[in-house]
Amino acid sequence: MQIPPHIEDIIRQHAESGNTFNAYIYDTARLTKRTLCLNNMMPQGVEVFYAMKANPHPTFLEAARKAGVTGIEIASLGEANKAVDAGFSPSQLIYTGPGKSLEELAWCVNNSIRTIHIESLAEAHRIQNLCVAAGKSQDVLLRINANFDIHDAQTTFSGGSKKFGIDEEQLDVALPQILALDKLNFHGLHVYAASGVLNVDDLLHNCELVFDLTQRIEAEYQGVRCDIIDFGGGFGVDYEETGNDFDPQAYADGLSTMIEKYGFQGRHFVLELGRWLAAECGWFATEIIDIKTSRGKKQVVCAGGINHFRRPAALSINHPMAIVNLGRGKLFETQESIHQEKVYFGGPLCTSADKLANDVLIEEAHIGDIAVFGLAGAYGLSMSNNGFLSHALPQEIVVTSPE
Ligand SMILES: Cc1ncc(COP(=O)(O)O)c(C=O)c1O
Repeated sequence: MQIPPHIEDIIRQHAESGNTFNAYIYDTARLTKRTLCLNNMMPQGVEVFYAMKANPHPTFLEAARKAGVTGIEIASLGEANKAVDAGFSPSQLIYTGPGKSLEELAWCVNNSIRTIHIESLAEAHRIQNLCVAAGKSQDVLLRINANFDIHDAQTTFSGGSKKFGIDEEQLDVALPQILALDKLNFHGLHVYAASGVLNVDDLLHNCELVFDLTQRIEAEYQGVRCDIIDFGGGFGVDYEETGNDFDPQAYADGLSTMIEKYGFQGRHFVLELGRWLAAECGWFATEIIDIKTSRGKKQVVCAGGINHFRRPAALSINHPMAIVNLGRGKLFETQESIHQEKVYFGGPLCTSADKLANDVLIEEAHIGDIAVFGLAGAYGLSMSNNGFLSHALPQEIVVTSPE
């Protein structure tokens, strides 16, 4: 991985203070670029929402708003508040996710958010009751746990037994009940199959299956029209630096052809993207506190571990990484360092699960240098075990790209 020069400058400047360095560095210029690019290339009717679970930092929300996302996909009241604080109106919020509390649903109904994505019959009835009490109605989508999945995805959200949505096989029973709830305005389907998909054809195949399902539902239930079809997120990023990055133009072209083929022009197609918009905008940079050999393998211990950057351990992958050599003096003459070796990186936590990277080939590293992990702008700090061992949180440094 190449660390962009302006990011390396920041690291060097901050490291000069002599305090232990442990920080996320964010530059949202790429989120802006990617949003603009998607808005330009996607076919008519496609709306890009930022899935703020990827990174809820205000800078990301502000960049997404300024770049012209249609709105924000939220998954809690906390996210709703952050989105509103960043200048989004409730009518730009769509709410997905299982286990929405009564208080969270009440906020959505009272503030008339754009759509609530129903995850279960109990949730549908809760929304209906809240609407009756408030004398309002609410636009909703139905999230379906489709009977298909994407096999090579990093994480799957449909197929098999899942807590997400209502099983496709139960629609016969569930859909009539939902349609009978008179305060719910049914607008269509949400089918989110998988996250971290690099293969465009896999994701397009999924769209095709969702279109088939839409046609079946509309044929079976007279008067029902799905004017909104939400595909969730899923555009992958190339963590393993294989060179096979996700190709949004190929996706846009394929989706455009498919919309025509199914005669679905005039409908709305929602993309709730997190990773693809945010990952490139962040680096996790953490000081090497110790290097030692244990039974023949170098163990590198950094200031931050899975308490600050849990993704590599959670998904059993190495993020792209590089070392900023600061040329600090030695603590003692025989201290260990790394030269062209495959090593293990971990943090300061008292668990073997505290892994940042394993078997990663490092050219040169010394105690006091900074290990930098790229593609860390999505699912970084907010997805980590922040409270474990009560270490201070890493700094979040925001810079603006000169590009
Ligand atoms: C409902 C929903 N929408 C969107 C996303 C964002 O997915 P991604 O980061 O893969 O784009 C997620 C991620 O878990 C999700 O659960």
